[in-house]
Amino acid sequence: MKEIQLITGFSKLTKKEKIEEVARYFQNPKETSDFLTSFWFHNEEHQKLFDEFSENTISNFHFPFGIAPNVLINGKHYLIPMVIEESSVVAAAANSAKFWSTRGGFHTRIVSTTKIGQVHFIWKGVKEELEKHFPELKQLLIEGTNTITQNMQERGGGILDIELVDMRSEIPDYYQLKAKFDTRDAMGANFINSCLEEFASILKDFIVRKETIADKDVTVIMSILSNYTPECLVEAWVECPVEEFDAMDPDMTAEEFVWKFEKAVQIATVDPHRATTHNKGIFNGIDAVVLATGNDFRAVEACGHTFAARDGQYRSLTRLNIENGIFKYSLLLPIALGTVGGLTSLHPLAKFTLELLGDPSAEDLMQISAVSGLANNFGALRSLTTKGIQKGHMKMHLLNILNTFAASEQEKVAAIEYFKTEKVSFNAVEAFLKTERK
Ligand code: MEV
Repeated sequence: MKEIQLITGFSKLTKKEKIEEVARYFQNPKETSDFLTSFWFHNEEHQKLFDEFSENTISNFHFPFGIAPNVLINGKHYLIPMVIEESSVVAAAANSAKFWSTRGGFHTRIVSTTKIGQVHFIWKGVKEELEKHFPELKQLLIEGTNTITQNMQERGGGILDIELVDMRSEIPDYYQLKAKFDTRDAMGANFINSCLEEFASILKDFIVRKETIADKDVTVIMSILSNYTPECLVEAWVECPVEEFDAMDPDMTAEEFVWKFEKAVQIATVDPHRATTHNKGIFNGIDAVVLATGNDFRAVEACGHTFAARDGQYRSLTRLNIENGIFKYSLLLPIALGTVGGLTSLHPLAKFTLELLGDPSAEDLMQISAVSGLANNFGALRSLTTKGIQKGHMKMHLLNILNTFAASEQEKVAAIEYFKTEKVSFNAVEAFLKTERK
């Protein structure tokens, strides 16, 4: 690799020129260009579509697309598509799903579906003057965004409420217009942001024109949706009698397993280090579905983690309740998703995923994603509290290690057989291949 230089006008280059510009830093630019091009789609239309999703594209970065079968949700079976690179995540979801499929499956409910957006502004005027006129301003905000909200209203959504929030205890002269939205099956980011920018201009105009508001100097700092949507909430849970866990581990009774599982959940509730890893396992499942459906996994993650810290300490997103011999394990979190708009119908595989999930509404998809999160977390805790995760994890990782050593198909078959009874590690695989190759 040569030392990278400052580049001007990169975005103006053609795709071929961009590739050449990047490839020239490598020892063999031709080989590098060919390598990048080799990941392009053969289908030119798909390639064009992908290039138009983003900017400065030079290639495609592929992720595995897997299926977790046997996922029973509210009495209906699903094949859940998962886009994830981590070996064992799909297996964990599939194992959990199988276990719960004979124990009533997963249950879910939508708690709420409200999204939030804010106009943040600075104004030194007399609060009461603005407050007094707020009902009139609110009416203008709603009427003034009619052209933006009309379609959404026809679909049953739109603006639900707008309030004036006094934030002066945090920052001098700081207020918000805080609006609630129902965006139906859309994730709604563009819809909300368009409304908010219009709100900002109506607000400024209102303050300037209203004679009884003395201070005309309002500065809108920004108008943007909040990715924290604590009122776009879904719950998923599983339940069964404690004795159902009898066969969880040959060395543990059902009660011992449940006791250990309960301790694991308690630890993730009180210790932020463990809570982070515990919740990461939940997002292994959620993100995989969110990605497969072309939704914004960064928004979903950011929201979930804020929710996990809602009482001031970062905690587990799951809760365990054991009452009258019934084990009930639940996951409650906000997930804002869309099944229309964005990439959902543009990305060919996202479109396929939604079809495979039975063309779900946004509410259905919230529930499916939450189940995927709970399934993964249950699978992780089940392994962690019994045999540990490394054995299974390394078995899954075996092919990655073999690929690192460029193992042939024949060597892979031999290795898989050999490591059925041996402990997988990087060194052990290297040693095995050395012997094979002698
Ligand atoms: C690994 O990707 C996820 C786990 O670490 C989750 C957990 O510890 O609960 C296994």
